This record gives sequence, structure tokens and C-alpha cells, in this order.
Amino acid sequence: PVEVFDLVIFGGTGDLARRKILPGLYRRFLAGQMTADSRIIGAARGELTDDAFRTMVAEAIDEFVPKDRRDSVMIADFLSRLHYVAIDAKGEGGWDALKGLMRDGVVRAFYFSVAPALFGDIALRLKKHGVADEAARIVVEKPFGRDLATAKALNATLAQHFLETQIYRIDHYLGKETVQNLMAVRFANILFEPLWKSEYVDHVQITVAETVSVDGRGAYYDKSGAMRDMVQNHMMQLLCLIAMEPPYHFDPDAVRDEKLKVIRALDPVPQNDIVRGQYLAGGGQGGYLEHCENPASSTESYIALKVHVSNWRWKGTPFYLRTGKRLRARASEIAITFREPPHSIFDDAKGWRENVLVIRLQPDEGMNLMVMIKEPGPGGMRLMQVPLDMSFAGVLGEEAEDIPDAYERLIMDVIRGNQTLFMRGDEVEAAWAWTDPIIEGWNATGTKPQGYDAGSSGPEDALMLMHRDGRRWREIR
Ligand code: BG6
Repeated sequence: PVEVFDLVIFGGTGDLARRKILPGLYRRFLAGQMTADSRIIGAARGELTDDAFRTMVAEAIDEFVPKDRRDSVMIADFLSRLHYVAIDAKGEGGWDALKGLMRDGVVRAFYFSVAPALFGDIALRLKKHGVADEAARIVVEKPFGRDLATAKALNATLAQHFLETQIYRIDHYLGKETVQNLMAVRFANILFEPLWKSEYVDHVQITVAETVSVDGRGAYYDKSGAMRDMVQNHMMQLLCLIAMEPPYHFDPDAVRDEKLKVIRALDPVPQNDIVRGQYLAGGGQGGYLEHCENPASSTESYIALKVHVSNWRWKGTPFYLRTGKRLRARASEIAITFREPPHSIFDDAKGWRENVLVIRLQPDEGMNLMVMIKEPGPGGMRLMQVPLDMSFAGVLGEEAEDIPDAYERLIMDVIRGNQTLFMRGDEVEAAWAWTDPIIEGWNATGTKPQGYDAGSSGPEDALMLMHRDGRRWREIR
């Protein structure tokens, strides 16, 4: 179990709280990680009794926790630890009541599950009304700014009231089991690390493909697009974990220092190395332009780009990144393609293909190492590629179901005071510093995204991005 805590969720009745944060906390309670005297306090604008808040949370658990994990006795016990305070983020109403609920000697954590425009107001009032103590932790959600200037302003605002060691910037990809596994694979095995450089790695593909559309959240999404919504944060984190140097220790600043160096080493990306797409109507659903309710929108729901990490280790090994909505399948993976052996001893090595290490992030988490063997049979030295295939579910069996989801893990890390899986302020700013000119580039040329069929693997031009380098994307399945 973690230490006893009082966790306040601002935006406690909002979508993220209902979908992820509260069901996640229930699962941690069920797993025995949340101690009995810890409390969760929902805070939002509306007037609500504790009981009404508990009913809302009970419904959320019903909706978002699988049936076999719903135990009525445990749920009732969990609900009894919930409270609610109506609060005015921009005024003084409710803050003293919230202060009255806080206990001394327990961890105080404040989750800002609200629009970033309110971060400053809440931070200010937490301090002004003495709700946050010296050791308090605040958790902030993305989007963390929409460019370098706004991210800097946000960092500066938070820094007026809290130390960097108190600020937990969430990137939920870092909470995913398989994403953390990237570090274990790299740094707990001797096998891969010696080959982990441009001398042996031909290229890396990072894919986060989704089948969902942006229907229902088009207003947010249209101001953002795939570059801001996925690349600046989630994909960037994946890239960092793959490309970074070994940190001297698995310790928050050691890890984050190494990630920061990767971001700083990224070359600017020429527009020619970027393909943007917008999904078209199909499969009985509307297209992007209908979903975002802006027929003239030039926001991308798909992006592919070729990225160079300009340092000693990676010079000459491109990283190809792609992510999009309404694609053929929900499939996220990282594929590391190795180079050819320096010399083939087989005169007629038919069937040879490169070694590829595929790390599947979701669904069906696992690892796959593609190796060459001799095709069985008398027909001479013909080669074939076979997978050394490891699926987490296969190895862990039922235990795999108890792996905490990203939010659960990260909230528990906040209570433990472990910032390793959270983004530091300078990291976020460096990521925006790289992202801004890319976005400014297409804004300046006014290029429109290319339409792509719903259910496909993205725009045609994305294929060309790799074809012209004599490579191809792995299939999205
Ligand atoms: C969010 C994005 O941060 O991540 C969404 O805003 C995206 O657009 C989501 O769908 C993907 O997360 P996951 O965990 O489903 O891969």
C-alpha cells in the first residue's frame, strides 16, 4: 500500500475523472494499494452532496470497470471514502471548506483535471487559502500549452506557487506497462544495447494507429491536430525512451536528463519529410470535416514524419513516426529494423530479410524478434524469417489482467512521490521548441492535409515518404 493520502480532483465530475481517474482509484483500492483511511475529494463548480457524488462515481465504476472486477461490498467501502466540495476556481467560494477537509500528516495531492486556463487560478488559491502544504503535489494534464510560448507561461505560473519537485505533468503513455518495458528491455539485457546504434540499426518505425474518430471532441481536436495531440507528447516520449543514452540510475532526474538530450538533438524537420492527412467519410460514419464541424479545416487527423536524432549514436538512422485516427486497426508498436550482415556466406541467399525487433504497445502487448533460419527441407540453403514471439498475456496468464492501467500507476506514483514517469518542465518546453517550427512551416505554406479512406492505413503520400528511401511501413493490423 501507498501512504495515507487526501487526493483532491478538480474537475471531479468531468469526463476524465469519470472514465479514468475514479475507476482507476477504485481498482487500486481493490488491489489493496489505497489504504483504508485515504480519501478522495471531488471538487467542481456544481453544487453536489457527498451522496450525489458517490452515486455518480458508482455509475462510472459500473460503466468503466469490467464486471468481474466489480464487487459490491468493496465498491460501497470505496465510495465511503469519497467527498465532494463545490468550488469556484476563479473566485473564493468553497476554498475554506476544502481546507477544512484537509488532514495534517497525510500526503496531499491535487489533480488538475480541468482546462489549462484554470491551472493558474487553482494553483494560486491552493496556496492562498492554505489548502496545499509544503509537501503537496499537483498533477496537471495535457495539453500542456499549445506552443512554446504558452507552455513557458504555464510553467512560470505554476512555478510561482509550487516547486518543480511538486509538479507532476502527466503523459499517460509513460504509465503504460509496455512503455516502461522499453526501458527494461534496453537496460536490463546485454543483448540489445551493443546493437542499439546507427551502425547496426537501419531505421526505427513508431506507429500509434487508432480506429476511433474525433466525433464528439471535434471542437478540441480541431485546434490541436495529430501533431499537438499525439506527436509533441506521447510519440515524443516513445522516441526518447528508444533513443536515449542509458541513465546512470533509474531515478527521476537521471531519466529525464537523458530524455531531454534526445529532444534537443532532434533536427528540424523539412516540410518535405512530413505527410498530413484527414480521414474521409466512410463505413457509415462522417469524415473529419463533418466531425470537426469546420468544412474549411486544415487540421490533420493523421501525420507521418521522418525524424533525425543528430548525435553520435543515431546519425544516419531515421526514425519514422506516424499516428492517426480512423485507421485500419488500433495498433501501437515500435519496430527496430537492423542492417544487413556485412557479408553473406550464402551465394544464393533467397528469402533473406532484415532482423526486426517489434515491441507491441497495444493491444496484445508483447515483443517479437524476427530472425532468419534455414527453411526446413532438402532444397538447399533457402532462408526464412520466423518470429521469436512473446506476448505478455501468454507469459503472465491471469496476472496480466491485474496490471494497473496507465492512470492508476501514475496516480500511485504521485502519492509515492516518484516523478520518474512524469515530464519535467524543461522537457515539455524542448518538445514544443521542436514542434513549433514544424507547425509554422505548414501554416506558412498553407498546405492542406491529404484525404485518406477511413479504415485504411493512411494517406498515399505517407507510403511515398518511406518508398523514396527504399523502405516501407509495416502493415497496420
Ligand atoms: C490522448 C489523445 O492523449 O491519447 C487522444 O488526446 C488519443 O486523441 C489518446 O486517442 C490515445 O490514448 P490511448 O491510451 O488510447 O492510446
